[in-house]
Amino acid sequence: MPILNRAAELQNEVAEWRRHLHRNPELLFAVENTASFVEKKLKEFGVDEVVTGLGRTGVVGLIRGNLGTGRTIGLRADMDALPITETSGKPWASETSGKMHACGHDGHTAMLLGTAKYLAETRNFAGQVAVIFQPAEEGGGGGNEMVKDGMMERFAIAEVYGMHNMPGMPVGHFGSRVGPIMASTDEFTITIKGRGGHAAQPHKTIDPIVVGTQIVTALQTIASRTVDPLASVVVSVTKFNAGFAHNVIPEEAVLGGTVRTLMPEVREIGESRIRTIAEGVAQIYGATVQVAYNRNYPVTVNHADETGYALEAAAEIAGAGNVQPSLDPMMGGEDFSYMLLARPGAFVFMGNGDTAGLHHPAYDFNDEAIPHGISYWVKLAETRLAA
Ligand code: NI
Repeated sequence: MPILNRAAELQNEVAEWRRHLHRNPELLFAVENTASFVEKKLKEFGVDEVVTGLGRTGVVGLIRGNLGTGRTIGLRADMDALPITETSGKPWASETSGKMHACGHDGHTAMLLGTAKYLAETRNFAGQVAVIFQPAEEGGGGGNEMVKDGMMERFAIAEVYGMHNMPGMPVGHFGSRVGPIMASTDEFTITIKGRGGHAAQPHKTIDPIVVGTQIVTALQTIASRTVDPLASVVVSVTKFNAGFAHNVIPEEAVLGGTVRTLMPEVREIGESRIRTIAEGVAQIYGATVQVAYNRNYPVTVNHADETGYALEAAAEIAGAGNVQPSLDPMMGGEDFSYMLLARPGAFVFMGNGDTAGLHHPAYDFNDEAIPHGISYWVKLAETRLAA
């Protein structure tokens, strides 16, 4: 089955919404104008229930089917932009310097609005569809805030699905994979306290620079000697700050870096080994350390059954030959991960064609993808909620 006729009819209207959102990007949780645009549209469509202010500025619309009672499935889009100055030169480019929709969340929001319009017109399903519009995907954990606000329970969401565009993949193509698809993205800071002094009398000091270099070296064993070589892990020390004079051994050195992995259990190993190594090496030399480990987004793990349903819906729309069922995972992060920890579901990618990459100042969402995205969402909803 190709794209749905009604989705094709909606393309121009949805592209107008998309371009309006693109001109008016907003960051993190401060997406008030975007959220009220979404709220207004959902009410225009006659969506049965519209709830705002979830996870601070998130919006959920609930659409009831005409084929009887049943479960609720959640379809999720993100609404926030990035702190980048746009160079696309498009007529609908950002009107605010220093902010732009460089990840296509304008397209995600517009396509899900188009889907809500379609589903509110046709209601050809049993149960409910919850259309979820979240703030703060780009670093604020807005998805987590909506989950913590009780969204899943409030709408009795049984399954949840997410979609992201992918530059470099042809328009009309889809891809996903069972299991980990995006990485966890943690950050650590190790503060080493020694005893400063004269560089000519090192024996009277505890040199935090020497301790720090040995911690950096020992951290390399997490990837090379602790974690299974077939598992993915990155431990990179990206900051090493210490000292101010050629003839002074400083009191303190500060290391910083990132840990990325595709497996929750490897994440545990990473944090635990960083603490043990830092403390152990410091102890050898009589220094002390403080380790601050900040857990950012967890691994985005697709559930097996739901990934199968998502891939089947994509294949119905795109043709099986245009659906990649075992996409390579990526080491970027995604806060849809929190929704997948709360409910079974799947995250899929959809082709954005030959455009600039995500987070690039020349990036633009491809409006030709709109009917494919809407058709996929509709197909998935109607299939999962068949009477
Ligand atoms: Ni994104």
